Amino acid sequence: MGVHTDIRLADQGGKDADPAFRADVLNGLAQRQKAVPARWFYDRTGSELFERITSLPEYYPTRTETGLLKAHAAEVAEIVGPGRAVVEFGSGSSVKTPLLLGQMDAAAYVPIDISGDFLRQSSAELAAKFPDLPVIPIEADFMKPVALPASVRGFAMLGFFPGSTIGNMVPRTAVDLLRSMRATLGDRSHLLIGVDRVKDIGRLVAAYDDAEGVTARFNLNLLTRINRELDGTIPVDRFRHVARWNAEWNRIEMHLEAVEDVMFDVSGRPVAMRRGETIHTENSHKYTPNQARLMLQASGWSPGAQWSDPEADFLILLAEATEYRSAP
Ligand code: AVJ
Repeated sequence: MGVHTDIRLADQGGKDADPAFRADVLNGLAQRQKAVPARWFYDRTGSELFERITSLPEYYPTRTETGLLKAHAAEVAEIVGPGRAVVEFGSGSSVKTPLLLGQMDAAAYVPIDISGDFLRQSSAELAAKFPDLPVIPIEADFMKPVALPASVRGFAMLGFFPGSTIGNMVPRTAVDLLRSMRATLGDRSHLLIGVDRVKDIGRLVAAYDDAEGVTARFNLNLLTRINRELDGTIPVDRFRHVARWNAEWNRIEMHLEAVEDVMFDVSGRPVAMRRGETIHTENSHKYTPNQARLMLQASGWSPGAQWSDPEADFLILLAEATEYRSAP
């Protein structure tokens, strides 16, 4: 009997899955254009694959933004001044953070991330690098306004949102998020944000479809994760990675395309896909500097200084919270 019980439990391996993951996948697969939100890429394997993406020759954003921060963090520090609480949204592995904090005379560092594991690890590393800096991690979904702890509420804030993560959101959601950051950070705050620029389409597509196939594995790993965590029977080898430019929306889209008609289950729910049908897994919007500035203005931020590289590949912008007053 005990043996049977064990087998039954093993067969229902999806039972402990994150209910939000299950809901997103089941709802997404029921849509006309099937879609799964990009945030679910980042299980352990997905996070490791993303780390590898950041050093691929075709993937210019990470190294370009890192170069910009090395070159200009001192100017940022000069503009915002000392005694700031630096609040990082989606801190993840926080590789870029020391470049900023090393130039700032900051009063506190507040990383916000939805993944508690990542947060604890990177906070400990950062605290070791800056022993005199209070590090106050917050495990939260930064898409909603976050209540900052009383210990930092008195400081003027510098929000830090690197990596062009804003590009994952459609403009409407990006504006919601920037407004929410304005509410979280309050008056007298600044925001330093990284944005990937519109450029040659061939280079953009190559950045999301590298020769070594790391991005393909990153994309396909989502199906492996669904199979493992949600009791899925998706034939992963019947799917291929697709990266395409959407000119209407100025974005790279990643899809998983069925190479033949397929049928599978997820959490006991049957799904059928035709050959050529896709699951949309990510948007990565690209902006001109003027578009980025308008988006900030539309969200309660007044863009000031901006820095870009000689190739005009990437942009970091420093904005100041717009004063609320009646329009003329
Ligand atoms: C982490 C959202 C900035 O959109 O460029 C990299 C994720 N996806 N390669 C991006 C990603 C495929 C990345 N962001």
